[in-house]
Amino acid sequence: MDLRLTDRVALVTGASRGIGAYIAEALAREGCAVGICARSEEDLTETADRIRKAHGVPVYGESCDLTEPKAPRAFVEHAVEALGGVDIYVGNVGGNQRGTFMEVSDADWDDIIDLNLKSHIRTSRAAIPHMRDAGGGSICYISSIFGRELGGAGLSLYNTTKSALISMGKVMAQELTPEGIRVNTVAPGSIRFPGGSWDRRVKEDPEAMQQFIEENLPIGRFGRAEEVADAVAFLVSERASLITGACINVDGGQSHSLI
Ligand SMILES: NC(=O)c1ccc[n+]([C@@H]2O[C@H](COP(=O)([O-])OP(=O)(O)OC[C@H]3O[C@@H](n4cnc5c(N)ncnc54)[C@H](OP(=O)(O)O)[C@@H]3O)[C@@H](O)[C@H]2O)c1
Repeated sequence: MDLRLTDRVALVTGASRGIGAYIAEALAREGCAVGICARSEEDLTETADRIRKAHGVPVYGESCDLTEPKAPRAFVEHAVEALGGVDIYVGNVGGNQRGTFMEVSDADWDDIIDLNLKSHIRTSRAAIPHMRDAGGGSICYISSIFGRELGGAGLSLYNTTKSALISMGKVMAQELTPEGIRVNTVAPGSIRFPGGSWDRRVKEDPEAMQQFIEENLPIGRFGRAEEVADAVAFLVSERASLITGACINVDGGQSHSLI
C-alpha cells in the first residue's frame, strides 16, 4: 500500500532512541522529511545521521528538554524553518515514575504532567497553525494500554497522564477534523527494543519475564517498536482518512479494555 507520504514533513518528539526513533525512521522510509528532538545531543545526532543516510530525506534534529515551557514551540518553529512546514506531528515523548499515590509528591506530579501531557499540548499548539496553513494535517499521540485500563498499583502518575492524553486527543479531533486535521492516539502494550526498559528487565530476570509473557501477552512475545511505528505511519497517512478521534491498541492482544 502506498501511504502517499512522500515529501510530507513529520515532527516526532522523543525520537533519538526507542519507539520515537523507529517512528521517525518508518516515516522517513515512506519519504517524509522528519524533525526529531530529544535531550541528548549525541544520541540525536547519531539517529538523525543514520536516518538521513539510510533514506535520503531531510532530517532536522534539535536537542531540547520538552518539559521547559518554551522548548516545544522553539522546536516546531526551528523545524518549520529547516523543513518548510509541518504536516504531521507525532507526540511520542513520555515517561514513567513509579510510586503509590501517597508516596508521590506535587513535584512528581508536575514532572510527569509536564512530560506526558503539557509537552504535547505545547507542541500541538505550535504545530496546528502550520497545518492550517497547509490545508490540513495529522496528529498522533503515543499513549499506552495503561491509558485505557488499569495499569496497577504504583502507576497513578502514568495511568492518569496517559488517559488524559487519549481524552485530549478525542476532544481535539472533534474540534480540528472539520479543518482537515485528524487526531488519533496509539496505545502500545509492552514493547521490547535494544536498550529499552523491557529489554533491561529480560536481561536482569529472563525467567520472570518468560512468565510475564505467558500470563500477559497472548501473542507469546513482546511487541516490536517497528510494529508500533508501522501503525503510526498508516494512521498519520491519508490512507487512514476516515480514522480520527480513535485510540488504537498495538499490543498483540495484551489489553483487557472492552473499549
Ligand atoms: N516501551 C514500551 O513498552 C511502551 C509501552 C507503552 C507506551 N510507551 C510510550 O511510548 C513512548 C516512547 O517510549 P520508549 O519506551 O521508546 O521511551 P524511551 O526509550 O525512554 O525513549 C524516550 C525518548 O524521549 C526522549 N526524551 C525523554 N525525556 C525528554 C524530554 N524531557 N525532552 C525531550 N526528549 C525527551 C529520550 O531522549 P533523551 O533521554 O536524550 O531526552 C528518548 O529519545 C512513551 O510515551 C511511552 O510512555 C512505551
